[in-house]
Amino acid sequence: MAKEFRRYLVTSALPYANGPVHIGHLAGVYIPSDIYTRYLRLKGCDVISVCGSDEHGVPITIKARREGVTPQEIVDRYHELIKRSFERLGMSFDIYSRTSSPTHAVTASEFFRKLYDEGKFIERTSMQFYDEEAQTFLADRYITGTCPRCGNDRAYGDQCEKCGSTLSPDELVDPRSAVSGAVPVKRETKHWYLPLDRYEEFLREWILDGHKEWRANVYGQCKSWLDGGLQPRAVSRDLDWGIPVPVEGAEGKVLYVWFDAPIGYISATKDLTPDWEKYWKSEDTKMVHFIGKDNIVFHCIVFPAMLKAHGGYILPENVPANEFLNLEGEKISTSRNWAVWLHEYLDEFPGKEDVLRYVLCASAPEAKDNDFTWKDFQARNNNELVAVLGNFVNRALVLTQKYYGGEVPECGALTDYDRATIGELSQIKGALENAIENYKFREALKEAMNFARIGNKYLADTEPWKVVKSDPERVKTILNIALQITANTAVAIEPFMPFSAARILGMLAAEPFGWERLGSMEMLAAGHRIGEPALLFEKIEDEVIDRQLAKLAATKELNARAEAEKNVEKQKDTVQFDDFGRMDIRVATVLAAEKVAKTKKLLKLTVDTGIDRREIVSGIAEHYAPEELVGRQVLVLVNLAPRTLKGIESRGMILMAEDADGKLRLLQPDAAAMNGAVVG
Ligand code: MF3
Ligand code: ZN
Repeated sequence: MAKEFRRYLVTSALPYANGPVHIGHLAGVYIPSDIYTRYLRLKGCDVISVCGSDEHGVPITIKARREGVTPQEIVDRYHELIKRSFERLGMSFDIYSRTSSPTHAVTASEFFRKLYDEGKFIERTSMQFYDEEAQTFLADRYITGTCPRCGNDRAYGDQCEKCGSTLSPDELVDPRSAVSGAVPVKRETKHWYLPLDRYEEFLREWILDGHKEWRANVYGQCKSWLDGGLQPRAVSRDLDWGIPVPVEGAEGKVLYVWFDAPIGYISATKDLTPDWEKYWKSEDTKMVHFIGKDNIVFHCIVFPAMLKAHGGYILPENVPANEFLNLEGEKISTSRNWAVWLHEYLDEFPGKEDVLRYVLCASAPEAKDNDFTWKDFQARNNNELVAVLGNFVNRALVLTQKYYGGEVPECGALTDYDRATIGELSQIKGALENAIENYKFREALKEAMNFARIGNKYLADTEPWKVVKSDPERVKTILNIALQITANTAVAIEPFMPFSAARILGMLAAEPFGWERLGSMEMLAAGHRIGEPALLFEKIEDEVIDRQLAKLAATKELNARAEAEKNVEKQKDTVQFDDFGRMDIRVATVLAAEKVAKTKKLLKLTVDTGIDRREIVSGIAEHYAPEELVGRQVLVLVNLAPRTLKGIESRGMILMAEDADGKLRLLQPDAAAMNGAVVG
């Protein structure tokens, strides 16, 4: 028997305030959590939804350093951007807080202090990399060096982005501090650890025996962590950004970001209501964590162990983690700008918030990774939102205006078909509830859309526009039913598409109905006057989609160039000024060019160097046709010792640059110069 709860606490993973939110975050975490919360609110449940910005951690300090600003400036910027974008998308958090809030500092410190005082931590010293120049310990990310697997000389202390290996800083060849460039040394440092191994039994029982209903991906990950055996985890770091470890002699140490962040859910609740304890400390409360799959271990293993160690707090009833959403077949990546950013979407598609909400729910990666494509976005908008939902609502309202001047007609005698249609409504309601309560939001959305689908079918089958001539009484009943289904649709889609639901209510000139009445015909009284119909959705044309695809293509090109630049050759050994001065480079003009017989690569060029006319054999036949070269100015190393190639004496070298794709490019003066002009 499933337990009955009186109250709900919904949490959504706190996004890092070091970048904007993209569609992957939305589909994975925020859209599902908003659907769930809105549904419970509509049902009249006592529910709160908390979220906020995660403002600590090393990546924020790295970003700040790279931009030459303080970490505070970074988190202020992104906190505002994220908060505002969420509001614009209709996210209905009861509070969107931040982990730099004073409440949070107190809450997290007290949490740590209680565990510390009760001896729930172990202390360990270890050797960590230290930068003597900058006088700071170095997080793994702050150490760069050569990857032992692939030789990439820009690998990080935690991973190599070139070959994808996970590394530890000890493995790096030639490690350097990313802060100062100094060679780091090892230094002893003390940290506090949460001995997770002591909670293994409790976790096994609670999850593996007690929560077999959790999603297979979540349960599976927990099981493999538990079967692998848990190790103590450090909960402090040597860093100057974060919540100071509230213990004497812990200068320069802060709480590990994954220790403080989930406590942020508690702090946010405190910021929301003085009555926060009833949500966190009562067994009558059902807590649900919405997260992405990379957060599973923290929400199912580490945070519950922290809560257990602390005591007095409830544990999550479920952690419906989603898999990842890809974009046009490739992994979404912030650093490679491969994403659809929420704030950009909102600017570029004003009034289409619900379209994004709809598409992301319909293709949410619930059981496996899924792909977002702009073509699919367009198809779902045109074939589902416009053709089904928008079309049905519009037909019902327009016909009511046309036949009855906007007054809801009486419902007369029902036919068998009417009864069957009406019967379906309550069935759909049941299926919809069942899907949401089991975190199957894609399925739930289908059920919600079924109200409109059935309405469309009902109008198509009953054909009021034909019947009106022969049996006007009958048409009153048909439209009454169609209007009741319209009202049902408005209720059913509200959790998914709140803007459209509100617009339908506006067009019906009705107050919110509440979930209770969903599935029934008791929505609109006969005689009620509805408002003016307007189109709910509009078709999205190919141009709009093409523009988005072009934007992605441009990103791809930029990335390819950046990628190539990463592989640029290392700088050669230092030369003295005189060494360079011995090279005699001149501007010259190509007078004639021809292929060297029996070779693929060679051209024989005749050039005017200003000093003389001479022949140079150059390996550019695959990059330039002879006629492209004649008349062009080039740079020539004129005092290179002569060489004979294929019987031709070559006196000098044409200077060229090789592109990432191996293509050779001539170097030229940027305006016509004198032949013989010295380069240097
Ligand atoms: N900032 C983390 C991420 O984006 C999520 C933190 S969730 C919390 O992956 F529980 F720690 F708050
Ligand atoms: Zn590598």
